[in-house]
Amino acid sequence: MMQDVDSPIAASRLDTKIMSPAIGVEVAGLDLTQPLEDSQVQELRSLLLKHQLLVFRDQALSSAQHIAFARRFGELEVHPVFPHDPDYPELVLLGGDSTQPGRENLYHSDVSWRAEPSMGSILRCIECPPAGGDTIWCNMVLAYENLPHHIKDVLHELEAVHDLLPGFIDRISEEERAAIRERFPAQTHPVVRTHPETGQRILYVSSWTTHLANYIETGFFRGMPELQSGAHWLLQYLVDQARHPEYQVRLKWQPHTLAFWDNRSTQHYAVQDYFPSPRKMARATIIGDRPY
Ligand code: SIN
Repeated sequence: MMQDVDSPIAASRLDTKIMSPAIGVEVAGLDLTQPLEDSQVQELRSLLLKHQLLVFRDQALSSAQHIAFARRFGELEVHPVFPHDPDYPELVLLGGDSTQPGRENLYHSDVSWRAEPSMGSILRCIECPPAGGDTIWCNMVLAYENLPHHIKDVLHELEAVHDLLPGFIDRISEEERAAIRERFPAQTHPVVRTHPETGQRILYVSSWTTHLANYIETGFFRGMPELQSGAHWLLQYLVDQARHPEYQVRLKWQPHTLAFWDNRSTQHYAVQDYFPSPRKMARATIIGDRPY
């Protein structure tokens, strides 16, 4: 059943503070180290649909508690490339240190290269850099809504290819590449997807998108050069929408901050300005369903 994001069920009994007009709410009044009641889970789900990003402060969760909290919202995936917590394969470890900068500084929705990409991710700060290392999220419902009509008109039925290999190629040995390709063939998803719970339309192309799958040039057409450049410029224009500050919020992490976002309707970008300071993050990624 579709849920109206402004329906009374979305009205929270928790202590909430809007982070930006576009996206995000800080939620207080819950201890996430303790098991949640079903009504609390329902309330957080409603808040997530309404605000797309929930931020909790001062939640000193262990890895086990992080996993237990995330499992209340769905089944968790095991990432095929990122390192993970030695005891919990569902908890990927992200960030950088003095030997290697973090690499999450690209606008994306998590694992959109899967046939059934993530519904949401829950990220915990284990160690923050002394300054920097913020994360930016953007509201891709707003990004779609604000597109000019003549652009929206060409997006009907348009599909795009999402692929994990180009982004991870240097982390996968040559011997492993064929096996990874077999397990994770490039996926074609709609450029504009529909949120399965709210019915909202969402612009769904990002850094994982390699090309448009079925672009047709409707204007001047001499052959492949027009087709290729038309598809290239349209995709670039659409991917760049996530960069508009009007659609964004920027989070300053503190130790024990936890962020929970909807991967279907948002993108995020971890600012890589903290190298060589360490930044240690752990992420649980909730499995979603096939975009339509
Ligand atoms: C991610 O890309 O999922 C992690 C973002 C971050 O580390 O801030």
